[in-house]
Order: sequence, then structure tokens, then C-alpha cells
Amino acid sequence: MTIKTYLVALFAGITINASAQSTASLSVASDSKLTISKHIYGQFAEHLGHGIYGGFWVDPSLPVAKQDRIRLDIVAALKEIKIPNLRWPGGCFADEYHWRDGIGAPAQRPRMVNTNWGGVTEDNSFGTHEFLKLCDLLGCEPYFAANVGSGTVEEMSKWIEYVNSNSTSTVVQMRKDNGHPDPYKVTFWGIGNESWGCGGNMTPEFYANEFKRYASFAKNYPGARLKKIASGPNSDDYNWTEVIMKNIPDYMMWGISMHYYTIPTGNWGKKGSATNFSESEYFNTMVNCLKMEEMVTKHSAIMDKYDPEKKVALVVDEWGVWTDVEPGTNPGFLYQQNSLRDALIAATTLNIFNNHCDRVRGAALAQTINVLQSLILTDKEKMLLTPTYHIFDMYKVHQDAQYLPIQLISPDYVVDGKKLPAINVSASRDASGKVHISLVNLDMHNDITISTALTGIQWKTVSGKVLTSANITDVNTFDQPNKLHLANFTGAKKDGANLVVVIPAKSVVTLELE
Ligand code: AHR
Repeated sequence: MTIKTYLVALFAGITINASAQSTASLSVASDSKLTISKHIYGQFAEHLGHGIYGGFWVDPSLPVAKQDRIRLDIVAALKEIKIPNLRWPGGCFADEYHWRDGIGAPAQRPRMVNTNWGGVTEDNSFGTHEFLKLCDLLGCEPYFAANVGSGTVEEMSKWIEYVNSNSTSTVVQMRKDNGHPDPYKVTFWGIGNESWGCGGNMTPEFYANEFKRYASFAKNYPGARLKKIASGPNSDDYNWTEVIMKNIPDYMMWGISMHYYTIPTGNWGKKGSATNFSESEYFNTMVNCLKMEEMVTKHSAIMDKYDPEKKVALVVDEWGVWTDVEPGTNPGFLYQQNSLRDALIAATTLNIFNNHCDRVRGAALAQTINVLQSLILTDKEKMLLTPTYHIFDMYKVHQDAQYLPIQLISPDYVVDGKKLPAINVSASRDASGKVHISLVNLDMHNDITISTALTGIQWKTVSGKVLTSANITDVNTFDQPNKLHLANFTGAKKDGANLVVVIPAKSVVTLELE
């Protein structure tokens, strides 16, 4: 690296890979005008496998604490990590979901085939009221995905009226008769899902027109000004973002979504195992995970062209690692285990989002319970918290905190002659003035010493939490549910005005400076 490259990179506030260096150098700025939206820490729950049925919503005979059929140990665990929003009912399922099927007496609700996910019969016992009750118990905001692919404008517009209006219209009276006299005031509304794919295989030009038609009839009711979110690009489809931004005025959309999944092998046909992988496969997984940085940067740059004031949010409302299903499980249910690798993916991705909080103002991990990169796995009445859960627990301190820009010079992690930056970081200051720095070491073998300058930040003590384990493939199981857990971290010291941290190999650390 030349001194010129180094200075340009420092000026841009980005990470530099400094090869052949066993230490990293970090500086954290004391101020910025940006807030890390809590909605970056959102979750996604689709009618898919055992995400809803057998996850949140269980059989009445299951011997666990419940409210109606909502599982309360799950509610308590998710409240602990302060999930800010929950996206529902899909995913691909959203574009074949008809909300009227999910209200009224459960026994009378129509049944349908869940064509996307295993062809199972959906009995609609979990519908609008049940979902909103769940969000109420979780203390989070509901985020509805409306059916554009196989629905109508009228259907969506009546759904909004049903949940948000306080009028005496027939549809509102139905809500009152179904037990909820007051409007729910749901503000997050996705207009379709993956409209480029399972949501209707549309071109971006066609979708932009559809969005405007649907959005025109997505009405605001008192106390519920809608945040309308357009179906956005698949991964690096920059043309989709360009066409949407060019054709939809910013006053019509609060956000544009983006979906990107980390596929370990990069091959959708043979994605790779969740638990049985080599170092080389781990490395490639992290290369694929880090592509999120490039995608967010490039989509943001396109958005900047049309929306320099950054009024429209980029909402990465499906992300996470997607592996082959666990052997012996239904391939349509997308059930996968969750290892230390998943924790590093979660922490790295959240660092990327925190560092792009000027544009990324919402996101949702796919998908909360028993599906893809989950926070929680269940087996009948048993339940475990995954390594990914512990990252969301560790990172909750960044929710709605003041963003602190960082500059980082990272050593490389080299495998098979290929390299990636071993360290990634984000930082924030909370309302009480505490500074939190989250650091990830992706190197499987080497502890890394990070020397940190904190110019302008007043602090006396440092404490922290760490997540790591002996093996990158380690998981929590129902027999050993706490193998991976948060531990106190003692590897950070004050050295004059500087902070020196020794971050263990394959670990995530969040420090608190007071
Ligand atoms: O999360 C699983 C699926 O992935 C969702 O239903 C869809 O939106 C995406 O392709």
C-alpha cells in the first residue's frame, strides 16, 4: 500500500487491508449527526416451515407457557434483545396471501396450499389479529408485506383500512366485531415482495407503475402515516434500483427494499452445510458475506443520484446465510443449524449496516425462528438461543444510538492465497453517553491486537462482552444449549488516551466505554 492510497482511504473513512501485519489500527470519531436506526435490527417471520406454526404459534397441547397459542418463552427471549420490528407474512408467501382468509372464527377460516413452502396446508389460524397480538407482546412494530403479485389494489387498500381506520365502515366494523375496537395504527407497509421473482416476475418498469397504482390507494388514517416500502433489487441488480428511483417520486415511498443472502458456496444448487464445512468454505462464505458492503455502497450511490437528501431509506429486509437444510428435514422448510460462523456473519453484516446508517434505515434478518439464519430453534417444548441471537443481544446497544465514524487499518486473513480484511468494526454513543465499539475478528487462527485512538472521547473504564468458541463449526444443540454464550471480555485496556484490545481469533466483541 502506498502512502497515497492510505491517505485517500483514511479520508473516505473506509477499511484498508494491510497485509503482513499482525496488528490493526483503529480510530473512532467523537461525533456525527447520524443515528443508527433501531429498525436495522428488525426480524422477518414468514409462513414457512416451523417459523410461525410450531415456532411462534404452537399447538394448544404443547406444555409451554402460552397466550392463546403464542409461545411466551420465545416472546421473552425476543423482548430481551429488543427486536424493533417484525416483517410478515412473507416473503414469497405474502404474494399469495389473502388477508380476509385470516380473520374471524378460526374454525371457519379457509384453508389454502402453501405453494412456495412444501405444499403444506395453511389453515390460516395465524392471521392479522394473531400477528398484531404477537407484536404487541413483543413490544415491536409490525411490518406488513401486502400482496401485489396475486392480489388487488382493493384487497390491499381494505387491509389497511381494516387495521388502521377508526371509521364506521363495514370493514372497520368487522375488525371491531373480531375483538379489536381501536385501530392498530400499523405504519410499515411493503408493497409486494421480490416482484422481480416469486412476487410476479415483473420488470422494474412494470413494477414501478404497479407500485404507484398500489401506493396511491394505500391511505393514511389518523395517527398512522404510512411508510411505504417498494419491492427493491435482488442483490446486485443495480438496474432495478435505478429504474425504481427514476420512476417513483420520493414522496411516494419511504423506502426501497433489498434482499441479499450469503450462500456459502455461492451456488444455489448446492449451498453447503450449516455445520460441516472446511476453513476454505468458511473463508468463501465470509467473502460472500462481505459483498453486502459493496452492494449497499453501490445501491446507495444510485439512490444518491435521485435523492441526494437521502429521504428514501434502503431497507435490507431479507438477509442472512442460506445453507442446505439439515439432513432429514423437509427441503421446503429451510431449517438450518446456526454455528459460530453465523455469529460472525451477523456481526459483520450489522457492522456494515451501522456504518451505512445514513441510507440503511431498516433491515430484517431471515428468519427469526427455525428458518434460515434463526435467532431461536425449537424442538417441541425445547428451545435454544443460537449464536446469532447472542450477536443481536450484544449489538442492541447500537439501536437508536449516535453513529460514530471509524477509520480502520486491518490485517488480512489469508486462505488459499486469497485474502479478506480480518477485522471489521462499528461504533456508537448511546443516550447516556456510553460509547460502544463492536469488533469482529474473522481470522480463524490469530488473535489480533487493535490499537485504538479515541480523540475527543472522554472515558475512564472499559468493559465488554465476547462471543467465541473452540471451533468455527460449533453450535448450540438441545442437549447443549449454552455451548456458545456471551462471556465477559477482559482483553481491553486503557493505554494513556488510547484503547488497546486483543481480540481473539474468530470472535465478536462489544466494548463499553464510560
Ligand atoms: O426467506 C425465504 C425466501 O427468500 C423468501 O420467501 C423470499 O422473499 C426470498 O426469496
